[in-house]
Amino acid sequence: MDHVLINEGLVHIRIPPFEKVSSRAPVFYNPVMELNRDLSVLALQQFKSEIEKGLSICDAFGGSGIRGIRYGKEVSGVDGVVINDVNPLAVSLARDNSLENGLDNVTVCQMDANLLLRLCKGKFNVVDIDPFGTPSPFIDSVAVNLPRNSMLAVTATDTSALCGTYPEPCIRKYGSNSLKTEYCHENGLRILAGYLSLSFARYRKFLTFKFSHSTEHYLRLYATISKGAKKTDKSLKNMGYIAHCPSCLNRQVYRGMAPIVDVKCTRCNHLMRVAGPLWCGDIQDSDFISGMIEKSSELVLNQEKNAIKLLELCKAESGAPPTFYDIHTICSKLKISAPPLKDLLDRLKAEDHMATPTHFTPTGIKTSAPLEVVESLVEDLVKKQKFYPEK
Ligand SMILES: C[S@@+](CC[C@H](N)C(=O)[O-])C[C@H]1O[C@@H](n2cnc3c(N)ncnc32)[C@H](O)[C@@H]1O
Ligand SMILES: [Zn+2]
Repeated sequence: MDHVLINEGLVHIRIPPFEKVSSRAPVFYNPVMELNRDLSVLALQQFKSEIEKGLSICDAFGGSGIRGIRYGKEVSGVDGVVINDVNPLAVSLARDNSLENGLDNVTVCQMDANLLLRLCKGKFNVVDIDPFGTPSPFIDSVAVNLPRNSMLAVTATDTSALCGTYPEPCIRKYGSNSLKTEYCHENGLRILAGYLSLSFARYRKFLTFKFSHSTEHYLRLYATISKGAKKTDKSLKNMGYIAHCPSCLNRQVYRGMAPIVDVKCTRCNHLMRVAGPLWCGDIQDSDFISGMIEKSSELVLNQEKNAIKLLELCKAESGAPPTFYDIHTICSKLKISAPPLKDLLDRLKAEDHMATPTHFTPTGIKTSAPLEVVESLVEDLVKKQKFYPEK
């Protein structure tokens, strides 16, 4: 069979020709995920620089093998990579591709991911979960598998569930209520982060989220694992709920698994809608992301520019409160045109509020300022724009 040659990073792989990216293709390869893989290489390299040991990586859903092969070739300090897939064709292709890239630190195997992770408990210090759709049926096995000082990287493509288009499957898969709002992708990441945290907590393990992003059709999270019952209990204090007022856009964060939630909006008395339980703590770590940015110059990444742009935005989001305001949604409610985002950010900062753009949307801002302040600054900016229009 003729094969298509793909070049990513320092590797080249061959895959069977395909008409469109689909889970029904003989072997799955998605060129759109190149950015995801570039960022993964950076995250693993940064993680390696923070630990004493060599990396022992499990690419549990290998597909063509591109991800695991890139880890084996591009990340320095890797002792070994296991590339696994349940599909025999993918496994034979991944084997050929790893040989073709001259790798002797890669092992390829064919197993159900849950079985592999249970059988190899404690053998990996990085596990990458990149299934079709939801990662939820595999998380308990990863939680059993990963020891302290290890890293989990996980992708979810079931954004319609996590981001509130279909709340029922979100309850089914993650035990959490999702909500369609202008910041629903952030909530989706937080629901996934909360689900991961509660799953690991069963084994007295807790997670520190290092880097998280919502890009294209998927959500991706990187977290390190630590152990201890007391510290796990403390970490779970970051679980909570986000109440949203669909009438005035007010939102309220409630920490705790069973907090008392105001049913009525404190601003306009409208009924609030509630998402959660979800992770209300940090999902970005500025030091870790800075390390990733630094390492980008040492690696060959086709998506380097896009990767750095995304990383800079995520880094600035570190320490920001949950949720963001979408300036277009606010302005359409106020029935005014939107001022330039930069002007609003400048005004917020001038008034000593934390304010930053967000990677979730080009029209979003994360800020410590209350909604009233954002609205009045927006109105003021628009008024000034009317009287002193730009030439
Ligand atoms: C989204 S693709 C992986 C893509 C790959 N990580 C990449 O970056 O190109 C998902 C893969 O998981 C495999 N898969 C599905 N269910 C599985 C299971 N239970 N255990 C192991 N592999 C599975 C599929 O055959 C498919 O190749
Ligand atoms: Zn309200």
